[in-house]
Amino acid sequence: MEKMEQFRGEIDQIDGEMAQLFCRRMDVVKQIGLYKAEHGLPITDPVREAKVLARTVDTPDTVLNGMYGEFHHSVVELSKRYQKRLRSTEKALPLDLHDGSCEIIMERGCLCRANELLDLSRRVFIVTDDGVPPEYAQTVASACAAPRIFTVAQGEGCKSLQTLSSLLDAMLDHRMTRQDCVVAVGGGAVCDLAGFAASVFARGIDHYNVPTTLLAQVDASVGGKTGINFGGIKNAVGTFCQPEIVLIDPLVLETLPERQMISGLAEALKIGVTLDPELFTLFERKDPLDHLDEIIRCAVTQKTRVVSLDERENGLRRVLNFGHTIGHAIEMTCPELLHGECVALGMLAMCSESLYQRLLPIYKKLHLPIVCSIKPRDAAALIAHDKKRAGADVLAVEVSDIGQYTIRPIAVDELTGRISRITKGGIAT
Ligand SMILES: NC(=O)c1ccc[n+]([C@@H]2O[C@H](COP(=O)([O-])OP(=O)(O)OC[C@H]3O[C@@H](n4cnc5c(N)ncnc54)[C@H](O)[C@@H]3O)[C@@H](O)[C@H]2O)c1
Ligand SMILES: [Zn+2]
Repeated sequence: MEKMEQFRGEIDQIDGEMAQLFCRRMDVVKQIGLYKAEHGLPITDPVREAKVLARTVDTPDTVLNGMYGEFHHSVVELSKRYQKRLRSTEKALPLDLHDGSCEIIMERGCLCRANELLDLSRRVFIVTDDGVPPEYAQTVASACAAPRIFTVAQGEGCKSLQTLSSLLDAMLDHRMTRQDCVVAVGGGAVCDLAGFAASVFARGIDHYNVPTTLLAQVDASVGGKTGINFGGIKNAVGTFCQPEIVLIDPLVLETLPERQMISGLAEALKIGVTLDPELFTLFERKDPLDHLDEIIRCAVTQKTRVVSLDERENGLRRVLNFGHTIGHAIEMTCPELLHGECVALGMLAMCSESLYQRLLPIYKKLHLPIVCSIKPRDAAALIAHDKKRAGADVLAVEVSDIGQYTIRPIAVDELTGRISRITKGGIAT
């Protein structure tokens, strides 16, 4: 027993020494970071990193050698994360996740500081679409040493295997390697497509999101869901892959058409209804278009909170699908409607009568649709394909009052029945 105490004492002493060494290492990492920032040096140095990572421990024990590699790798990763944290501004919202972290920076004018905030000292593949004013992608490109701008056709259609294929071709053509990065400059469609490409190219490379629609700023650019549509099914193929940094610059919304703005407000309203009563009150009592910065900040704060607790959507994160089960079916059958408008309709279908009555004046104020032309038979087929299936049923979110939601398996027939409230000829006409 005495021997045991001795061993434990030794372990405690070593741990204490390691803690001190860890802090010392991080202090030097911090000084290097500050020095690089001051002298405008590139944030990462892949050659140096490879050299540091190749270090081994001097022991004939091969098992220990392998474990040291893992230990050392984690120390290097933590050092990188620490530097990243130091670089971010006070206004950044850190999103700490099990497999790395993501920094969300929201600040008016931050797009023009892309050179300071993003690591662009490598090959940079910028994805945008032909509806996004080109100067946003050009601003990023002008901060890069080796940029390539790839412009896809605007709209949901770009989230296709065909566009993905030409994008990957162009990435190869730009001689992108695992050390390089992708920057999405656009709305949710561009963020979903570019993030997916980055997550599969060379088994995954860094990506940054620069969302330029309100919808992408409050929702799509944050949380790490990427993907494309396939086989007529919305987001049928995709990955969970966090962007390294999300740069939210509300100034870029100045060029966004009002209908797109309202579509984004619908996703923010979803967050208010389910998770943030104060945000909901803002929608009820004020003109949301006059309070965009506040709305973005509240929505992103809630989304990061939920994602940090349940990154892979095994529980809490499902609440963010409120309005989406039916919304996605509407989106695939009513292409004239925008994503946020479809979600808005889906929310109306999935809330209690009292909440429906409370939502109506907000929808009227924002000119959001309260009915659409989806046919129950089409809806049933699409809902049956939903990814959130639970046996014969589909996991869907119902909301009875602000902040009062249930997530439960619901039969496809029951979900289809709910559509009557939002179809022409239904009770809302
Ligand atoms: N990954 C996620 O977590 C998540 C969450 C919500 C939505 N989404 C996805 O996001 C997509 C919808 O995103 P969206 O509403 O941003 O649509 P979008 O990306 O199609 O953009 C809408 C339109 O606005 C234009 N545009 C973009 N920025 C502009 C600007 N600053 N000024 C003028 N025009 C501009 C685009 O060219 C496009 O025509 C859907 O595919 C949806 O599935 C993903
Ligand atoms: Zn959505």
